[in-house]
Amino acid sequence: MAARIRADLAALPGYVPGRTVPGAIKLASNEVPAGPLPSVVAAISDAVAAVNRYPDSGATTLADALAARLEVPAARVAVGCGSTMLCQQLVQATCNHDDEVLFAWRSFEAYPIITQVVGARVATVPLTDGSVHDLDAMLAAITPATRLVFVCNPNNPTGTAVRRTELERFLDAVPDGVLVVLDEAYHEFVSDPDVPDGVSLGRTRDNVAVLRTFSKAYGLAGLRVGYCIAAEPVTVALRKVYVPFSVNSLAQVAALASLDAAGELLARCRNVAAERDRVRTSLREMGYPVPESQANFVWLPLRERTTAFAEHCLDHHQVVVRGFAGDGVRVTVGDPGEDDTFLAAARSFRS
Ligand SMILES: Cc1ncc(COP(=O)(O)O)c(C=O)c1O
Repeated sequence: MAARIRADLAALPGYVPGRTVPGAIKLASNEVPAGPLPSVVAAISDAVAAVNRYPDSGATTLADALAARLEVPAARVAVGCGSTMLCQQLVQATCNHDDEVLFAWRSFEAYPIITQVVGARVATVPLTDGSVHDLDAMLAAITPATRLVFVCNPNNPTGTAVRRTELERFLDAVPDGVLVVLDEAYHEFVSDPDVPDGVSLGRTRDNVAVLRTFSKAYGLAGLRVGYCIAAEPVTVALRKVYVPFSVNSLAQVAALASLDAAGELLARCRNVAAERDRVRTSLREMGYPVPESQANFVWLPLRERTTAFAEHCLDHHQVVVRGFAGDGVRVTVGDPGEDDTFLAAARSFRS
C-alpha cells in the first residue's frame, strides 16, 4: 500500500524560490551581489578537511560570539539552519493544533507554509495602502488562540519598515502569552535611525524574539545559518525542536569568519542601501509608485500588470525579478551595472 500522506498537504502551496536563468541577471532572491570575502573563503576551505566529523550541534562558539557582539547572555541566543528554519522552530515551539499564527499579508512567503506544515492556523491582516504593517489592526486581530505574531521589519517583499514608537506601543499592548517575532532578515540594510533594532527592544521584553540571518548582509545564503535572540525559555524550547546537526560545520566557521569581517561586510550593506535609494528614485521618476524601502530590494505594486512586467524584464532585458501575480514585483538591488539594466527594462516597459 502506498504511504498515507497527510491529506492537508495536498492543498499546501510549495515555496517558490526566485528563478535562476542561465545567462540572465538574477535580482529575484534578495541575495547580495558580492561573493564571500577571501578570509571567509579561507576559513571554509580550512574546515573542509574535517567534514568527516559531525558539527557542534549547539553551534556554541558561534552562539558565544553572537552573544558577545550583541551584548546579550549566551543563553538568549539560538542558532539555526537559516532563519527560515528558526521561523518553523518558533511555530513548533509555541503552537499546538488549532493555535494561531498571525502575520501581515503580504509578507515573507514562508510564514503561511511553515504554519500549516506545523499544523497551526494562519491569520493574516492586510498591509496598509502604503504597503506598511497595520499594527493597530494586527493588535485587534489577536485572539485567545494566537500564540505567535510575525512582524517582518523591514517587510519582505515591500521593503517598508515600522518605526520605533509604533512598534514599542504594539509590543507593550500585546496580551500575555503571545510571542512577537521581529523578523529582521534585512536589518543591516536599514538606513533610517527611527527603524528600531529589535535586539535592544527585546532586552527588556520577554515577549519578543528577534530573527537575523547570515544569508543577506553576510553573503552566506548558500550555507544556511541564522540566529534568534529571545528570552531563555524560548531559546531552550527552540533547541528542543532543533533538527540535530542541521547547522553544518562549514556554515559555522563561515559565520564566525564573517563576524570577524563585520566592518567590511556592513560597509557593503551601506553601499547597497545607497544603490537601493538610487534605484527607487529612478523608478519614481519613471512614474512607478515604489514605497520607501529599508531593505536590499524595492517593491513595484503593479497589480494585474505584475506578470507582464516580470516577463518583459526577462524576455527583453535578461533580468529575472520576482513577481507575485496580481500583487507586485520585488526587485533585489544588484551591482550598479545590473541595476542599470533593470532600470532600462522598467523604462522600456512604460513606453
Ligand atoms: C523576511 C525573511 N525572513 C527570513 C528569511 C530567510 O532567510 P534564511 O536564508 O536565513 O533562511 C528571508 C529570506 O528570504 C526573509 O526574506
